[in-house]
Amino acid sequence: MATMKSLIGLINKIQRACTVLGDHGGEGMSLWEALPTVAVVGGQSSGKSSVLESVVGRDFLPRGSGIVTRRPLVLQLHKTDEGTTEYAEFLHAPRKKFTDFARLGLMNILLFPAAVRKEIEDETDRITGKSKQISNKPIQLSIYSPNVVNLTLIDLPGLTKVAVEGQPDSIVQDIENMVRSYVEKPNCIILAISPANQDIATSDAIKLAREVDPTGERTFGVATKLDIMDKGTDCLDVLEGRSYRLQHPWVGIVNRSQADINKRVDMIAARRKEREYFETSPEYGHLASRMGSEYLAKLLSQHLETVIRQKIPSIVALINKSIDEINAELDRIGRPIAVDSGAQLYTILELCRAFDRVFKEHLD
Ligand code: GDP
Ligand code: NA
Ligand code: MG
Repeated sequence: MATMKSLIGLINKIQRACTVLGDHGGEGMSLWEALPTVAVVGGQSSGKSSVLESVVGRDFLPRGSGIVTRRPLVLQLHKTDEGTTEYAEFLHAPRKKFTDFARLGLMNILLFPAAVRKEIEDETDRITGKSKQISNKPIQLSIYSPNVVNLTLIDLPGLTKVAVEGQPDSIVQDIENMVRSYVEKPNCIILAISPANQDIATSDAIKLAREVDPTGERTFGVATKLDIMDKGTDCLDVLEGRSYRLQHPWVGIVNRSQADINKRVDMIAARRKEREYFETSPEYGHLASRMGSEYLAKLLSQHLETVIRQKIPSIVALINKSIDEINAELDRIGRPIAVDSGAQLYTILELCRAFDRVFKEHLD
């Protein structure tokens, strides 16, 4: 995928620039502050975890009916050097590496799904008990791989309308506040997940997204469960942008059903089924090339690239500031003649200048 390639190249350059700036010890900029995050928002069982997995390209999240996701999951993808082995690691268990990876998906993530999923479930229970309680405390999972782009993805508990047995009455508001605290950040890209078998006018996802992103510039409308809409109804008014116009086009999705999950239908088979669904659909056939998980992942990576490009001027400004600071420091201590701290500064200066040139090219 050409877009993905240029996105990877761009993020790698930013990562190296951030590292150089960090080494210089100035205010610098953390890579993760410079990059956008992607969060899934929606009602309970709307398909959030399923969509996130699809975008990442691998099964590893707990899914199912009822309240399954009960703590935020912050998934950080870290690009490592070519030839290094992939592994996953949880912040709460830093010495335990999950290295037994299975095969790849869209973003080429390699994961051992069952062990990682089980650890997410166990760690959820550790804090909340085996209850329907929720916790604000995020589970942080990092994946280190040469085959990913540096990116943070966030899976969130579903918005609900009523507390169920075993939940405090405040849970409805608690979940909404928790979700809002993630999606109100201006660098958060929102996947607003709305099940097509319910009225999208009442979509919790769209309601919250509108509130925190009124212009819709960072919201992607995702209509799930197109396959289980009532007979005789369709989602065309939404998908063609007549009902709820967003800046970005709506994408229709067919995730795995619970029966598919029970039968352990894998992601590749699920993709194939989804593709066939759209291609043979009497309602959506004419939209087939702009529907489905793969298309959503493509839209998302294009958008990420645009957003990251917009960051370049501020990175260039930081680099220029560093160049000035380093020059001043070199003037003070004298230009280097041997391998000492001065020489190191000199190297950083050269790197900063190189990045400055690279980023100026990207600005055109
Ligand atoms: P979440 O609670 O929003 O994270 O939703 P999950 O991803 O856990 O999915 C909830 C349930 O809905 C699971 O049983 C999924 O199999 C099912 N589901 C999700 N998306 C679809 C879809 O597009 N079609 C069908 N038929 N079922 C879906
Ligand atoms: Na669920
Ligand atoms: Mg979930």
